[in-house]
Amino acid sequence: MALVTVAELARKASQGGYAVGAFNLNNMEILQAVIVAAEEERSPVILQASQGGLKYAGIDYIVAMAEVAAKNASVPVALNLDHGTSFEQAMECIRKGFSAVMIDGSHLLFEDNIALVSRVTDVAHAVGVSVEAELGRIGGTEDDIMVADEDAMMTHPDEAAEFVERAKPDLLAVAIGTAHGVYKGEPRLDFKRLTEIRKRVDIPLVLHGASGVPDDAIREACKLGITKINIDTELRIAFSQAVRDILDEDLKQIDPRKILGPAREAMKQVVKEKMRLFGSAGQA
Ligand code: 13P
Repeated sequence: MALVTVAELARKASQGGYAVGAFNLNNMEILQAVIVAAEEERSPVILQASQGGLKYAGIDYIVAMAEVAAKNASVPVALNLDHGTSFEQAMECIRKGFSAVMIDGSHLLFEDNIALVSRVTDVAHAVGVSVEAELGRIGGTEDDIMVADEDAMMTHPDEAAEFVERAKPDLLAVAIGTAHGVYKGEPRLDFKRLTEIRKRVDIPLVLHGASGVPDDAIREACKLGITKINIDTELRIAFSQAVRDILDEDLKQIDPRKILGPAREAMKQVVKEKMRLFGSAGQA
């Protein structure tokens, strides 16, 4: 199968009352962990590349890996740019083969965010690529993007309605209390706000920073209209814990396959659990 858009997967998820997981892609082991999990769970899946992922693997490798995965997979696979930083970067990703882009203008003034997203959607929609935007500011750290607690800002439901109507993104990432990275305490999601946003906005909504969010809160978010859920940190933790365990167990171990193989397996288990939790398992 060719790569499909995130909008297509999210639309189906919205009709079916579940969410599709979006997992950050940085290397072959992560790719295989995510794709094998999707196949085993019969789940649609979104691969995405962050700024750090693009820097680490390079855009050509990211696209090549995702295309091979999609071609060989029997479940639908999308490739999304995560937190795109500029019009030019979004265009480069589209030209190189991404099926979806996120353009993150959440740090800009409202009008400037609308202008940036509109510019990207005009081009992306003309060539069949879907667009995710962000309104409000999701806190925490993802690679080079750091948003301090005092700069994080919840999404305003009325602004969300105006934003979607004018900028026309296919998906909207909302700030309702989650943050990227490892949580210091238990995250508290603002479900009332999510309900208000859902009432005013009819495109699929995205939850960023979902690692470490309790299962019940995730289930509630799905019930209230979240149809794409981003997970990165929990994969990092599974990967590094497995590598640490192997190296601690056998100080003489020098075979990369014996070090990365168990890390790949550990990540796969996390992805499978998330697919069951999000309700996407069995939907492909
Ligand atoms: P976590 O790293 O907190 O899982 O967040 C991932 C994310 O939202 C990517 O955009």
